[in-house]
Parts: sequence; C-alpha cells; structure tokens
Amino acid sequence: MAKRYILQNGDPALKKKSRAVTDFNKRLHELIDDMRETLIEANGLGLAAPQIGVLRRVVLVVDTTIESESHEEMIIELVNPEIIAKSGEQTGSEGCLSVPGVFGIVKRPQIVKVRAQDRFGNDIELWGKELTARAMCHEVDHLNGVMFTSLTDHILTEEELEQLAAEKEAAGEDGKDPETDSLSNTERGLGKGEE
Ligand code: CO
Repeated sequence: MAKRYILQNGDPALKKKSRAVTDFNKRLHELIDDMRETLIEANGLGLAAPQIGVLRRVVLVVDTTIESESHEEMIIELVNPEIIAKSGEQTGSEGCLSVPGVFGIVKRPQIVKVRAQDRFGNDIELWGKELTARAMCHEVDHLNGVMFTSLTDHILTEEELEQLAAEKEAAGEDGKDPETDSLSNTERGLGKGEE
C-alpha cells in the first residue's frame, strides 16, 4: 500500500466524470488499498478515486455508526456506487480533503440507499443515514465531477468556524483539526440553526 497525493481544488481532474470499473482485478485492489491508506492518514470521512487522480468510480466512506475503535474497520468500499433511493433532508456543514480549511452549509438527504459492488464485483446494497448519508452523497458527487463548493450557498466564515470548534469541544468531541476532517459532524451545531 502507498499513500497518494490528494488533488487540491482547481485541479481539472476534480471536474471530470469518472468511468465505471469493469475489471475487479489486482489493480483495483491496489487502488482501493492505497485509497484506504490515504484516507486514514488524512483522517477524513471519505475519499473518491478522482481525488487521487484516478478517474474510476470507486469511493470510500467512513461509516461512523459502525461500532469500532479502529478508523480502518469503519471504512466502506463502494465500487460503481449509485444512490437509488433517498428520504428526508439534513442541513449541515461539509468539507472536503481537496478543499482544506473550507466548510460550507449543504443540504443533503437524511437517509440514502446505495447500490454498488464490492472489490470482488459482488453486488451490494446498503443504507446510510445522517453523516454517513452526507458522506455517500458527497463522494458519489466526486465521481461526477461535482464539488461541494458548487452546492453550498454559505461558506462558513472564520468566526463561524471558531464557534463551531468551540461547540464541538463543549460537546466533548476529540479536537480533530478541521483541515484534515473531510466532513464535519455539525448537524446538531450550526446546521440546526440554518433549517
Ligand atoms: Co470531497
């Protein structure tokens, strides 16, 4: 496994549509393993292959509802993911490893159903809710060249970011560096006030 460089906003690859995976071979497994390592190193909640310059429909999402002490065990691998159902709505702040330090308010469904394949080509279907639903939508958007910055009508100011950090601290969350936290869990904080 090798850690890869995460492309930063403005790189043309981030605006491109990724192609479907057709071969579930060693090369795909190496790509996914590299993505896992890159995501863990960056301490993010999701990563899409185009973010490391590979225009293939592969994403990783950290499902924070999986009960584990290990970041590694919470990672869901989704190949050729499609959102096939959604319900409800959540308003909250969102960030991206390709846009460090920037967070914007984005509306997303509260619950989504995803159809995908695993790394061996087996069909899978799963549900994501709340933060996981947000991350699934965000990562699938990357495969279509869509950045969260084009979906937000409110980029958080320096002041709002500080307030958010203070709220998080008060809530007893670990003091993750917002620069490396790809999606922040602020639905109960700032997000609520926006609804
Ligand atoms: Co992103």
